[in-house]
Amino acid sequence: FVTFSIDGREVSAPAGVMLADGAKYGDIEIPVFCYEPKLGAPVGACRMCLVEVEGIPKLQTACSTPVKDGMVVHTQTARVREAQNSVVEFLLVNHPLDCPVCDKGGECPLQDITFGWGRGVSRMVEPKRHFRKPLELSPLIAIDRERCILCYRCVRFSQEVSEDYQLILNERGASSFVGTFDGHPYVAPFSGNIIELCPVGALTSRAYRFRARPWDIEGSGSVCTHCPAQCNVEFTVRDERVLRVLARDNHGVDDGWLCDKGRFAYQAIHSEERVVEPLVRDPESGELVPATWEYALDVAAAALSEAGAKSAAIAGGTTTNEEGFLLQRLLREGLGSADLDARAGLPAVAPETQRALAAPALQATIPDLEFAHTVLVLGTDPIDDVASLDLRIRKGVRRNGVKLAVATSRPSALDPNSKLWLRYAPGAEHAFLAALEAELTGAGGVQELCDKADADPKAVAALAALLKDGGEDVVILWSQRLGSAPLPSLLNVAATLRLSERDGAGLLEVPVGGNGRGLREVGVQPNAGPGLADAKKAGKGAREIATAAANGQLDALYLLHADPVRDYADRRLWEAALSEAGAVIAHASLLSGALRATATVVFPAESYAEKEGTIVNLDGRVQRLRPAIGRPGSVRAEWQVLADVAKRVGLDVGALTGPMVTRQVVAAVPFYAGLSLEEIGGKGVRWQEREAAASAPAAPAGPFDGGEPLAAPRPNGALRLGTYRSIWAAPEVEASPALKFLSAKQQAEISPVDADRLGLDNGAKVSVSAGDASVLAKVFVRGN
Ligand code: SF4
Ligand code: FES
Repeated sequence: FVTFSIDGREVSAPAGVMLADGAKYGDIEIPVFCYEPKLGAPVGACRMCLVEVEGIPKLQTACSTPVKDGMVVHTQTARVREAQNSVVEFLLVNHPLDCPVCDKGGECPLQDITFGWGRGVSRMVEPKRHFRKPLELSPLIAIDRERCILCYRCVRFSQEVSEDYQLILNERGASSFVGTFDGHPYVAPFSGNIIELCPVGALTSRAYRFRARPWDIEGSGSVCTHCPAQCNVEFTVRDERVLRVLARDNHGVDDGWLCDKGRFAYQAIHSEERVVEPLVRDPESGELVPATWEYALDVAAAALSEAGAKSAAIAGGTTTNEEGFLLQRLLREGLGSADLDARAGLPAVAPETQRALAAPALQATIPDLEFAHTVLVLGTDPIDDVASLDLRIRKGVRRNGVKLAVATSRPSALDPNSKLWLRYAPGAEHAFLAALEAELTGAGGVQELCDKADADPKAVAALAALLKDGGEDVVILWSQRLGSAPLPSLLNVAATLRLSERDGAGLLEVPVGGNGRGLREVGVQPNAGPGLADAKKAGKGAREIATAAANGQLDALYLLHADPVRDYADRRLWEAALSEAGAVIAHASLLSGALRATATVVFPAESYAEKEGTIVNLDGRVQRLRPAIGRPGSVRAEWQVLADVAKRVGLDVGALTGPMVTRQVVAAVPFYAGLSLEEIGGKGVRWQEREAAASAPAAPAGPFDGGEPLAAPRPNGALRLGTYRSIWAAPEVEASPALKFLSAKQQAEISPVDADRLGLDNGAKVSVSAGDASVLAKVFVRGN
C-alpha cells in the first residue's frame, strides 16, 4: 500500500493501482469513459479523467497515472473543473442527445457524467455529424454510430480480450466510426460483452431493445448453468420475465465476461414450446396429455414402485446438487437401485482413481490458468466445452506470458495462441497420455505408444520438455471426455511434475455437464453414494443402463433434465432404450422428439432463473442459484416433485423447504460439512479451501496402473471417427430466437490432408458410418 493525498484526504491504496481506482479508497469518484481495467492497459482516449497532480505542470489522466507515495492530487480545482466541463461539452458535440428514445437512458454513464461533471450548456451551433441508424452490427447487436464517443472499449475487447480481431475503427479523426473490416456482421462467441462495455447507447442488444426502461426493471443475481464455467450473472427482470442477462463480476469464476450463449439463451425460458404443466401418456390415444399433479405423481410413483430395483436414472448437467441428492436417495433408498449416472454415457471411473483425482492438493483454480508458468489444454476446446475459460487462457498468455500447450484430437481455437499444439487420433487418449508419461519418466516404448495414438513422437517429446522445464507452476485443464482409461496416466504425469506440491499448479477437470462435478459429489454416479463412501454398492452406468433398457430388462427410467437420445453419443442405443424401458419419467422444460414419443410422464421443469439450490463449478466452487422470477403455469419446485415421488414410493426424505434439502446435502457430503447458504451466496465457496478438505485423501505419488487396452494403431489411410457435442448445440440455443442463427448443424470435420486425399471440399455432403449407424453431414475442412 502507498499513501497519498487527494482533495485534502489522506488515502492508502495498493501500490501500482491507477489514480482512478486509488481515489475510490478515499470515497472520491473520478469520472471515466474509456478506462476499463478488464480490458488491459489504459489507453487515455477520452480525457474525462483529468486531474491535477502537484509538481506536474499539465493535467494528468487519472486512468493511466499510477498512485505513488506522497502524491498530492486535486480533482476539484477550477482548472480541473474547466477541463472536465470542456471534455463533456466536446464529447457531446456530435452526440444526438436522443436520450428519451435511447435504450441506455437511465443507466447511461454519459448521462450521469454529463449531469455530474458537465457545464450544462453547449456552444455548438454547427450541424452534427449523421450516420444511418440504427444498423445491425450483428444479429445480436444494434449500432447507433451517432451516439458513439469513440472510447475504443468495444474495439479493444475484440482485439485484446476475445482476440477475434473483427471490430476496428474505420476512417480518421472526426470521421472515425466503429465497424468491421468489410461491413460483415460481427459474429463471435463473446460478442455480447461489447453491449455491456459501451458507456453510451451506441451498442445495444437487439433482443432487449425497447423492451423496458431502467425504472421498470429489477436485477437479480444468480449463476449461469449452461456450462461448467458457471459464470455469475444478473437477470434483468420485468413483470416476471427475464429480459436480459448481464455479467456479475467474479474474478474466481468468470473474470466479468459472459459468452453469447450465457447472455442470450435466457430467451428459452419464455419459449412458447415450454412445458408448463404435467403431461401423462393417455393409454387410449397414445398421446401425452395434460394432467393434474396428483395424477401425474401417482402414475410416476406406481411405475417406479412396480419397477423397484429394476429402475434407473440419468441426470442432465443442469440438475442442482439438491435435486441430484434427492434423486439418488429415491433410487438407492426408495427403490433399491444404484443404477444412476450423470456422466453423459462416459465409462465409470474406479473409486480409487476418483479419490486420487479429488485430492485437494492436486486441484488448480480457474485464476491459476492466468498465472501459471505453463498450461496444458488436454482433450478439450474450451470454446466448445466451457466457453469463458477460453478468454481466461488467452489473458494468461497475452498478459502474463503463460506458455500454452494444446493436445487434442481435433483442432482447437487456442492453437494459434499456443507455444506448441499436437494432435492424437480420436479415441487414442489413453495411448497418447501413456506416451507422454513414458517420455516424462524416461520409460521406454514412446515410439510404439505414439504409433498407437497417431501422435508425432517429436511433438510429444517437445511437450514433455515444456512441462518439465517451462516453470514449476503447471496447470493441466483436462476434459472428462478423456474417459476412464487415460486417468491413471494423467495422475502419473501429475505426480512426475509434482503438481500437488505447489499452490498455483494442479489439475482442472472440465466435466461434460454444467453441474457435472456437483452431481458426482452428491452421488449421482453408479459406484458411489455421497462422499464416495459406499463404493461397494456399484450399479450400472449410463451405457449399461441403456443396454439393459434396450434389452427389456429395465422397468422404469427416470430422466432428470436429460435426453440421452439428443445428448449422448449412442443415439440408436438410447432410442431403443427409451422405447423398450417399461416407463419413462422425465423432468423437461422443452419436449424433444424422443421424449414426445416415449415418455410416460413428463414433469414440467423449472428454468435456471426460477430455481433455488446450489451447483458446483469446475474448480469445486459451490455456488448458489436464487430464483429471479416466479414459475410459469403449474410448474413446481423440482426438489419438491422428487420428494413427492419419493413419498409415494414409501420414502420420506424429511424436507419441507429447499434450504432443508441443501442442509441434507451439506450434512451428507463431507467436503461441504458445516457450510451455510449464506456462506455459499455471494462469490461461492471452494471446498478445497475448507477445513474439511485437510482430511481429504492426499495426492497419489504414483505409479498408477491403467490396466486397460490401448487403441490399435490406425491402419494407413484409414479415417478414425471422433464425435463431440458443443455447448452451443443445445436446445436452449435453438429455443432462443436471438441465437437461432447460431444453432449448430451436424458437420463432419475433416483434416485438410484427408479432405485432399478423398477429394472433399467444404460443404460437400457425406455419409459417416460407424457400426450399423450412419448419418449425413456437411464437410467442414478444419485443421493445420
Ligand atoms: Fe454460461 Fe458457460 Fe457461457 Fe459462462 S461460459 S456464460 S457458464 S454458457
Ligand atoms: Fe482516462 Fe478516458 S478514462 S482518458
